[in-house]
Amino acid sequence: MIVYLNNEFLQLEEAKISPFDRGFLFADGVYESIRTYNGKLFYYKDHLKRLRKSLNEIRLLYNETEKIERIIYELINTNNINGEALIYLQITRGTSVPRTHSFTQEDVNPTIFISAAPLKRNEQEQKEGIRVSLQDDIRWLRCDIKSISLLPVIIANQSAVDAGGKEAILRRNGLITEGSHTNFFAIKDKIALTAPAGPLILSGITRMIVLELFNQLEIKVKEEFIKADELKMFNEFFITSTIKEITPVVQIDEWIVGDGKPGELTHKAQNAFDELVENY
Ligand code: PDD
Repeated sequence: MIVYLNNEFLQLEEAKISPFDRGFLFADGVYESIRTYNGKLFYYKDHLKRLRKSLNEIRLLYNETEKIERIIYELINTNNINGEALIYLQITRGTSVPRTHSFTQEDVNPTIFISAAPLKRNEQEQKEGIRVSLQDDIRWLRCDIKSISLLPVIIANQSAVDAGGKEAILRRNGLITEGSHTNFFAIKDKIALTAPAGPLILSGITRMIVLELFNQLEIKVKEEFIKADELKMFNEFFITSTIKEITPVVQIDEWIVGDGKPGELTHKAQNAFDELVENY
């Protein structure tokens, strides 16, 4: 595998970073996961916009975002990825020797790492749906920043996996915020609900696409929090992300949703999404 690290395309084994990198020491950095459809980066401009916002919010000055797109396509080519690709991109605030919490903008030399790997849709999950598990949302209050500081996410996700689920659905003060690495939608009476954009969720690109598709399909959507203790009043759920696309949720912990099969509006969203990506 060839990866990109600080202006160089390197064999993975040769890609080295300092143990004093602030990403390693403090999780002081941000990231993006981007994918292709038909070999073309999907909604790249929106990912770039979100990356710039994340960088800006954590005061990380990185002014070479313009060249990232070219690097990504080169990585896809040099790794001979013929099908679809998943791109992982991370920018940290570089090294601090000795380890110091504060930083001086003039001394910051960011670390940028990008990798590309083949990506295949999980057909079974898409068709049959998944089981998820409710977990407490113990993340910080700036979930709108795509920070690499993911320990609360790892804990919640692992607890969900240990409980037999594929994803953790997070609950903060009785409200459902999102999944550990996905956004969450619930449907009742033909109306879709998803948590409002703001500091308590990451505003997903796939979430935004689904909102647009529902609008086009004239399906009503409300950006409102779903109460955890009212989940059973809904009859359809799904999660969204770059990797999971639109994945139906058919079981929440021990509760099987409806007949245990993906719902009608979930299907509609999936079909509209497939049409969009086919023609992308
Ligand atoms: N996760 N919410 C959270 C907390 C996320 O981490 C993600 C993305 C999403 C969905 O965003 P998008 O539709 O833009 O992929 C929502 C990525 C895929 C990851 O963790 O790799």
